[in-house]
Amino acid sequence: MKKVLILNGSPSGDKGNCAAFISKVRKLDRTLDYEVVHLAQKPAGAFWLSVKKKIADCDSVIFVTGTYWDSWGSPLQRLLEEMTDMEATPAIMGKPCAVMVLMHSVGGKSVLSRLQGVLSTMGFLIPPMSGMVYSLVSDIALKTKTTHAKDFWQIEDAELILENIKTAMALKVEWTTWPVDKKDPRRKWFK
Ligand SMILES: Cc1cc2nc3c(=O)[nH]c(=O)nc-3n(C[C@H](O)[C@H](O)[C@H](O)COP(=O)(O)O)c2cc1C
Repeated sequence: MKKVLILNGSPSGDKGNCAAFISKVRKLDRTLDYEVVHLAQKPAGAFWLSVKKKIADCDSVIFVTGTYWDSWGSPLQRLLEEMTDMEATPAIMGKPCAVMVLMHSVGGKSVLSRLQGVLSTMGFLIPPMSGMVYSLVSDIALKTKTTHAKDFWQIEDAELILENIKTAMALKVEWTTWPVDKKDPRRKWFK
């Protein structure tokens, strides 16, 4: 079974909407071996090392986050900062990833696109149709029967995303990496 790591970037951790959404998503396809990590409320350095090891060991990663003032959750931002030394390494080069964003009403598509941009730059593979935004607005709208429903992202679209990452996990491709300065990215350059 392929190992899929689901990272919850919500500041509300296992108590929030993202956690509830993840519970639904993992029931959509039972042929995958999921592990869920809630990134919130775990500030210790050892925790981030363990998450990085899980990222290196899995076959694909699903990043889930809410939208907070037009951005992704602060625990996810912390992870991206901690992951800086994984850029262009075999641990993530060409590893398929999916992104699922929740929001109330606005800002989520920009979060999705920007996050996919960051992940692609780090070295992850973004398969086609591997990102979605699910909003409170759609959740309410979808309770009414409408011929427009197909144009709204729905929870069922997550099933299609899982199919696409499964297809991507079956790919065997040799990617080329650009050189990355491996010295301390935090060192001072402004004098
Ligand atoms: C501090 C904060 C800021 C938010 N900012 C936005 C926003 O800019 N746009 C939006 O549509 N929803 C916004 N929301 C709503 C959340 O994105 C949405 O409820 C999401 O499902 C939260 O997931 P969580 O409970 O796992 O944190 C915000 C919520 C919080 C708590």
